Amino acid sequence: MDVFLEVNIMDIKNKVVWVTGAASGIGRATAEMFFQKGAKLLGTDIQEELGKEVVAQFGERGLFIKADVTSTEESQKAIAAAKGKWGSIDILINCAGYTRTYPVVTQDGPGPLEPFVKEINIDLIGAYDVARLAGFEMTKNKPNDLGERGAIIQIASMAAITSNSLISGYATAKAGLVHLTDILACAYADYGIRCNCILPGYIRTAITESPEQNPFIDISKDIDFNLFPKKVGEPDVIASACVFMVENTYINKTGLKVDAGFKLRS
Ligand SMILES: NC(=O)c1ccc[n+]([C@@H]2O[C@H](COP(=O)([O-])OP(=O)(O)OC[C@H]3O[C@@H](n4cnc5c(N)ncnc54)[C@H](O)[C@@H]3O)[C@@H](O)[C@H]2O)c1
Repeated sequence: MDVFLEVNIMDIKNKVVWVTGAASGIGRATAEMFFQKGAKLLGTDIQEELGKEVVAQFGERGLFIKADVTSTEESQKAIAAAKGKWGSIDILINCAGYTRTYPVVTQDGPGPLEPFVKEINIDLIGAYDVARLAGFEMTKNKPNDLGERGAIIQIASMAAITSNSLISGYATAKAGLVHLTDILACAYADYGIRCNCILPGYIRTAITESPEQNPFIDISKDIDFNLFPKKVGEPDVIASACVFMVENTYINKTGLKVDAGFKLRS
């Protein structure tokens, strides 16, 4: 009997992958994992020195451009540089993110507005802008045998679903990003471009290591790692989820929780 195998896996080898926030944490791990799969990497970040260091590992298959996701002009320059070198943008993994802890209210008055606005600007509007620009570039790609032209992954957060009051702008932006994923998946469907998001739980990166950014001061008190594994995640668990969601061409308009089933106590 013949065994018939239908191949529905996007081949990452030689694809041009744009990773925002590539200088650190999840973005760095994701860029490194896509490189291992044979991709060409456009890394962007506001941290120039670190970003260049990461991308230097990739030799001719790497390009770092300093670009803030809140600047359309800088994102366009990064896209132009990658297209000049390799001719296309095939995949976007949007990892750039910003958070601060601050109260909504204190006995002395209302909490600050500025960090809320900054979080919405970077984590939601910036994420929309890079997807808008990269998605348009993908529409120009020659479709593969499946009719696929590209894939977009937004890094959202479990804060979109469950949060505490110290990260109001961040959690609101990430909830918006989950909804935006659905909208982008619909918008790009006719062009053969999938859009998905990942909701990481608690991952060891600069964000969770910093008291100004981390809303869970004492994780043993605030977070219940009650299933398996009972521990903080490492960035590579999110990187490998990105690879899986890009490779599997039947995953679209989906948010994947990668959090070991943790629960917040507060
Ligand atoms: N670490 C976690 O537990 C966790 C949980 C859920 C979601 N996330 C999300 O994962 C993504 C990556 O964060 P991380 O944990 O790796 O933290 P990180 O601080 O290590 O990485 C974030 C990167 O984004 C860059 N960045 C910040 N603002 C930017 C801007 N305006 N333009 C371009 N780059 C900018 C930073 O310079 C940094 O290199 C973020 O979107 C974050 O919200 C992280």
